[in-house]
Amino acid sequence: MRNFRRLSIVVGSRVNDSTPTYRANVRENATTAEQLERATAASRVGGGPKAIERHTRQSGKLFVRDRLRLLLDPTSPFLELSPLAGIDLPYGNVPSGGVVAGIGKISGRLCVVMANDATVKGGSVFPITLKKQLRAQDIAMRNRLPLVTLVDSGGAFLPLQAEIFPDREHGGRVFYNQAIMSSMRIPVIAVVCGSCTAGAAYIPTMSQEAIMVKGLGSLYLGGPPLVKAATGEDISVEELGGADLHCRVSGCTDHYAENEEDALETTKNIISTIGHEVTGWDEEEIDSEYSPLWDPTEMRGLVPPSNDHRFPMLDIIGRLVDKSRFQPFKEKFGRELIAGSAWLYGRTVGLLANDGPLTEQAAYKGAHFIQICENKKLPMIFLQNTGHEEKFSDAAEAARTIAARSHMMRRVATATVPKITIVIGDGIGSANFAMCGQTARPNFLYLWPNARIGLCDLQSQNTDVISDKDDARRGAAFSAFHSSSRVYDDGVILPETTRKILHLSLTAALQNQSHC
Ligand code: COA
Repeated sequence: MRNFRRLSIVVGSRVNDSTPTYRANVRENATTAEQLERATAASRVGGGPKAIERHTRQSGKLFVRDRLRLLLDPTSPFLELSPLAGIDLPYGNVPSGGVVAGIGKISGRLCVVMANDATVKGGSVFPITLKKQLRAQDIAMRNRLPLVTLVDSGGAFLPLQAEIFPDREHGGRVFYNQAIMSSMRIPVIAVVCGSCTAGAAYIPTMSQEAIMVKGLGSLYLGGPPLVKAATGEDISVEELGGADLHCRVSGCTDHYAENEEDALETTKNIISTIGHEVTGWDEEEIDSEYSPLWDPTEMRGLVPPSNDHRFPMLDIIGRLVDKSRFQPFKEKFGRELIAGSAWLYGRTVGLLANDGPLTEQAAYKGAHFIQICENKKLPMIFLQNTGHEEKFSDAAEAARTIAARSHMMRRVATATVPKITIVIGDGIGSANFAMCGQTARPNFLYLWPNARIGLCDLQSQNTDVISDKDDARRGAAFSAFHSSSRVYDDGVILPETTRKILHLSLTAALQNQSHC
């Protein structure tokens, strides 16, 4: 147990849960939490009961969630990434973005797992599927975690093929990343559980090792109907690209599996030969001895969902960090930014939290503290609530603020320690960049349900689930749900689960880093 008393202070205080404001916040946040629960539950059923029935009964395949359950260690939490991807997009609903992604433990090792959901339009790749795949690969690279892909995909979603083919961050990037990961000595494994048609065929063949399931897996550029149309030849799926062909003749895949269970066992065997086992990931290994002094569920009463208020930030910090202890830095300077060290399940972290607009002084303080974290090799946690009013007394003050924010942006962009960002309120304008928004490549970025992201604020107080299309079109702040459905972040999380998700994310980020 750490000696928390050295230099640190207790932050936060007991709440008065009988005030009308507290009660109203709890009520409104409970409604938003229910919306989150409903949206998450909808994403879990993929293409819906009929499609699942067809996939499992008629095609004899496992549903994607069952594949993951069999692959991951039984006690492993699954840190699911962007489960709300694909909700209410201009081209329709694509549950989970058509691909389930996350971090879990396989044979004791932490891995990024990415699995097509073939109940959603045959597992074909929509623009959002691609975006989620690329972010999962980015997370694997950023955190140096092995990547396991369970492939069951009809390739590009043909009506939108122009939106996923030509550009730098389009389809070919998935294969490019696989090559780069291999060169970084990050293991890349694929399991062919179903179709690997057209572009999807390159996922197993660009992997370091690939497993293919007899009778269910198929790998080719064009299927039997296409062959028939092109050459008039009748050919079966197995003859054209089954496991026998690819494991015995072409060598495209390396391990022959009798069935899906066998393929997942082989995957576990391969992973067991890599790196080392993680500790502190499973529920029972997470030490409650470090719990904050104040109840994290009380954050629901402290955070106004309408976002027109500032938060009692020290009360929030006091409900996230070990024993509510915090060691402040430059406490009396640039007070609109709280900076300092804290502990999360015994690990030291640098913490930066907005407590007002990012003024000139606050930005210089942030830049200074980021440099200290980098020198000490401390992972950093950013709690973003940038505010949205940019009121300057004169042009000179505005210009000095630009200079100070640029300085902070420079520091955050070049920091090499793990960075995790939680947007707990507003993430607006250039303060979003300086506070490690997505463009500064955080290892992970999550939003609270009340969060809003945007270039500027149009005084919109609308926090309804995906109901802010008009604001979005005008370029104003997006709601958390809108942002997450587009994979601008890694997921929407509740205040009371934030401490655990920070811990899992930090564990993933630090697992294979040589520093920290
Ligand atoms: N683009 C658009 N839609 C696709 C698709 C694709 N690449 N692949 C499958 N779908 C759709 C189907 O039209 C069908 O839609 P519906 O439910 O609205 O009717 C749904 O996904 C399920 O496909 P289905 O063919 O009924 O499922 P299956 O399990 O029998 O076969 C595939 C799955 C992937 C083998 C088969 O759909 C297929 O060969 N697709 C075309 C693959 C292709 O040519 N890709 C080229 C990409 S460049």
